[in-house]
Amino acid sequence: MKALVLAGGSGTRLRPFSHSMPKQLIPIANKPVLEYVLENIRELGVTEVGVIVGDRGPQIAAALGDGSRLGLRLTFIEQDAPRGLAHTVAIARDFLADDDFVMYLGDNMLPDGIRETAEQFAAHRPAAQLLVRKVADPSAYGVAELGPDGEVLRLVEKPARPRSDLALIGVYFFTPAIHEAVAAIGPSARGELEITDAVQWLVSSGAVVRAGEYGGYWKDTGSVADVLECNRKLLDDIVSGVAGEVDAASELRGPVIIGAGARVTGSRIEGPVIVGAGSVVENCHIGPHTAIGRDCVLRDTRIEYSITLDGATVTQVRGLRGSLIGRAATVDARAEGADHHCLVVGDHARIEVAA
Ligand code: G1P
Repeated sequence: MKALVLAGGSGTRLRPFSHSMPKQLIPIANKPVLEYVLENIRELGVTEVGVIVGDRGPQIAAALGDGSRLGLRLTFIEQDAPRGLAHTVAIARDFLADDDFVMYLGDNMLPDGIRETAEQFAAHRPAAQLLVRKVADPSAYGVAELGPDGEVLRLVEKPARPRSDLALIGVYFFTPAIHEAVAAIGPSARGELEITDAVQWLVSSGAVVRAGEYGGYWKDTGSVADVLECNRKLLDDIVSGVAGEVDAASELRGPVIIGAGARVTGSRIEGPVIVGAGSVVENCHIGPHTAIGRDCVLRDTRIEYSITLDGATVTQVRGLRGSLIGRAATVDARAEGADHHCLVVGDHARIEVAA
């Protein structure tokens, strides 16, 4: 079996971050989403992975290298424009050859893994094996209608009036039967070749397509709210480890990781929290559920349920919550007595100040 990982999407809902980095490299608990994806694939014993990339391909290739660090062999396949998930299967045809494969959307987080589904697929080898999950807002996803034994009766991509609350998770197991389906479908209303339509084509042509309700944690990290929520979930499972320096005036509570070369002074850290390597934390109250990237500087600051990306600086800001602060960004308080806010805000950024 091979794997096809999709890391070409433009991530408009993750602006402004996606202006400068592919959304699949956004760190959750200080590790890029894409690394979790690849680890789940390696766990299946799959080592041949095709990675679909768009114009951010060089950044993704720089982050992952040839995959050997993760025990994988990566083949990068370029998609010239976002032409749909089924289009990626078509352009990966040579790489996939006639092997079974798992297609995995590079922004989907499933920290509990996909072993069980892989085993079901291997045991029964339906033309496609899908994972579904009940959601509150099915119209934002591909939606599946299932028969009593998990056979897929109908699939619709982002229906206005969903006929079930079962959303398709972005992990699909396929036999080579999918290639005929991909070749047979036309573009959807949004002009893309939808994998949902290709799988529906299989269903209509009488092929066996199965789906199982996924019992583990799942998050499509397409928006800032989803990234923060997933960060919370992953931080809940960390185990304390202090490699950097923590002075006697600081207090660490609950699970806290302090990376190598990081320095914490005069601060209270309320886990779960990760402070990345080389970061400086002075006179702060951090956490819970906060991930500080590498080489950040935080002074006289209170921050919880947030992420700061590598190289960010936050000074004298008390009361940050639900915040995602970009790489090398600066958040600072004005001098005492100042009567106005001063904002230098990038394209598509969002600022909420307490009134
Ligand atoms: C894609 C699929 C959709 C699926 C979702 C899961 O949507 O088209 O069927 O439910 O991923 O994350 P997208 O996130 O590209 O809008």
